[in-house]
Amino acid sequence: DKIVLAYSGGLDTSVILAWLKETYDAEIIAFTADIGQKDELDGLEEKALRTGASKVYIDDLRDEFARDFIFPMFQAGALYEGQYLLGTSIARPLIAKRMVEIARAEGATAIAHGATGKGNDQVRFELAAAALAPEISVIAPWRLESFREQFPGRAEMIAYAEKHGIPVQATASKPYSTDRNLLHISFESGMLEDPWFDASADSCKDMYVLSVSPEDAPDTPEYLELEFEQGNCVALNGKKMTPLEVMDTLNELGGKHGIGRVDMVENRFVGMKSRGVYETPGGTILFHAHRKMESLTMDRDVMHLRDSLISKYSTLVYNGFWFAPERLALQALVTESQKNVTGTVRIKLYKGNVIAAGVKSPVSLYNPDIATMEADPTQAYNQSDATGFIHLNALRLKVGSGVEQSKQK
Ligand code: ARG
Ligand code: SIN
Repeated sequence: DKIVLAYSGGLDTSVILAWLKETYDAEIIAFTADIGQKDELDGLEEKALRTGASKVYIDDLRDEFARDFIFPMFQAGALYEGQYLLGTSIARPLIAKRMVEIARAEGATAIAHGATGKGNDQVRFELAAAALAPEISVIAPWRLESFREQFPGRAEMIAYAEKHGIPVQATASKPYSTDRNLLHISFESGMLEDPWFDASADSCKDMYVLSVSPEDAPDTPEYLELEFEQGNCVALNGKKMTPLEVMDTLNELGGKHGIGRVDMVENRFVGMKSRGVYETPGGTILFHAHRKMESLTMDRDVMHLRDSLISKYSTLVYNGFWFAPERLALQALVTESQKNVTGTVRIKLYKGNVIAAGVKSPVSLYNPDIATMEADPTQAYNQSDATGFIHLNALRLKVGSGVEQSKQK
């Protein structure tokens, strides 16, 4: 039998690798998606083999991640609970997709992951897998009582690792959990579990990976021009770029200027609240610039309709319904809404802020001749028409107010 394991090289998935092999008497295929976690990938293949994997896949999915996952989500303007740009959420369906592809190619009957069993990631992995490959079963060791009894704490895991010759990092591991990719890095648990703990304090500076703190950012602002075609950023400062190059470049610039840190308590799908700190430098620039581009080019009612669906769309992504029919249906609406979101946005990056500094488009709907407070040469708008427009809109307000007044008599 063969099992494909989503493997990160950390203590948890290393122990799980050896434990699966022992418990299920199966061949374990370790799979790691390269979705931009950078140096975390160093030495991974060798480590997986030494831990007992029969085969290792480390697949570079960065282009696909940026093009087919991050960019479509940014076209939708997705933002969970008003703050979270969904950096972890959007990566899970891609990891699951590749994992079931490998399982099929290898003739494996099961996939396994190291999500804790208390969070969102387990749901995202498994809903995506269910939508794409319902015949493949899932093993989630942290949800098995026998596994939890064997490993009540870190000490037991370290002991197990040593016994099985699994290389354990000698360096003290970080007192919080992180998840890094092209879009963000997240921090959870440890000292962050106290929502009164100040993660912006100088004493917490060492935690951050992708950005400097706003107070340490340069004193001079930096200008940046983003070119959009149909809602996708296709060039920076006049240079054509792939979605991956856009993300890499924006992360660099945003990180330098302290952009995109978020500290929030969010609602997990499984019912609990959880505190998370995020660095999303490039995504934050893209989010604001994209909205600026829309402001000039998007029809009002299309925009308001799309906006009314942002919370729905974001919740679908957060909860793991990326491959569900309702997300695909919403995406079709989003794609249609973006057909004229084309042009150039100029912004200024300054100490954690993305400051608007100009916008232009060959398909702009903004017409200064109509909006002007001077005489309108187009005659498209007749001020006299507004009298009737206001009268009709006021009608029910007057009637309703009359009823309220008569009740007081
Ligand atoms: N709370 C965020 C989310 O649900 C981040 C989760 C981080 N996951 C992790 N395995 N460290 O999307
Ligand atoms: C986990 O439970 O593995 C991480 C947190 C989450 O998925 O929400």
